Amino acid sequence: MQSDLTDRVVVITGAGNGLGRAHALAFAQAGAAVVVNDLGGSRDGSGGSTGPAQQVVDEIIAAGGRAAANTDDISTWDGAKSLIDHAIDKFGSLDVLVNNAGILRDRMLTSMSEADWDAVIAVHLKGAFCPTRHAAEYWRNQSKAGAAVDARVINTTSPSGLFGAPGQSNYGSAKAGIAGFTVITAMELARYGVTVNAVAPTALTRLTDDVPAMHDLAASTDMAPEGVSPLVLWLAGPAARTVTGRVLAAIGGTIAVVDGWAYGPEIHSTERWTVARLDQEMPGLLDKALPGADITGRRPAR
Ligand SMILES: NC(=O)c1ccc[n+]([C@@H]2O[C@H](COP(=O)([O-])OP(=O)(O)OC[C@H]3O[C@@H](n4cnc5c(N)ncnc54)[C@H](O)[C@@H]3O)[C@@H](O)[C@H]2O)c1
Repeated sequence: MQSDLTDRVVVITGAGNGLGRAHALAFAQAGAAVVVNDLGGSRDGSGGSTGPAQQVVDEIIAAGGRAAANTDDISTWDGAKSLIDHAIDKFGSLDVLVNNAGILRDRMLTSMSEADWDAVIAVHLKGAFCPTRHAAEYWRNQSKAGAAVDARVINTTSPSGLFGAPGQSNYGSAKAGIAGFTVITAMELARYGVTVNAVAPTALTRLTDDVPAMHDLAASTDMAPEGVSPLVLWLAGPAARTVTGRVLAAIGGTIAVVDGWAYGPEIHSTERWTVARLDQEMPGLLDKALPGADITGRRPAR
């Protein structure tokens, strides 16, 4: 059964293509009013057009839903403010913010330019901060005015940021930052009735179309972006009211809780460590530690 999100007002960034588009159509089908934000640029963030956002809005309206197009740049303070204001002006409130917009500029570190670094960090990390910051101010004001706030932020991180992928030091750093941003803002916004979670999706979109492994996976499992949307809708719905600070991965029918950083094996000393004593103790400590997860999210066998 489709979840009922009637009268919830949802902002989705980067909703003109791929995952954001799939989320927008699913939210509208569940009864929500959707602000479809998309700058309409290319895969690397260059250019812009009203086309993609308006097309998704046209699809939603043709199916009897409610939606408005927005082409603000969410990586800027003012663009993000304009987006949040747009939702409140158009539909009277804001209940759910899905930070999804993204670009890629993959390069090995030794070839990465300052512009490649800055653009990717801006769209992903600042592009999660700016809309969340303005939405949080709105919700804090609602809460202080005595309203019962039941709001959600759903961020988009990536296996690249959580587990590592060569060629993506800019993208992975931004995505790891989004996981940290999720955990911290979940702590801060709980008092206002706002949950903050992140999804780490894997789906076949224009960002992953050039990855042969994605097509291999798609031959045997559902890698369509629509396969990720039910988890996002669940996080936005009543059953997830108390779920916050979580990172959840979704790939081809698998949903996993991604465990955060935590201490593994430990050694202790009441006296200050010396390098000579560490020479003795560190190999044993590192031997006890589990290997980090690979890009599939699982730890390789030892
Ligand atoms: N596809 C995957 O397997 C995968 C894996 C992990 C994470 N993600 C993340 O999921 C999100 C969606 O990716 P996708 O694969 O659907 O890509 P996509 O390129 O199909 O969609 C991203 C959209 O974001 C828009 N956008 C880019 N910069 C923007 C800006 N400054 N303001 C407003 N909109 C902007 C683009 O125009 C585009 O329509 C991204 O954050 C991506 O990093 C995707």
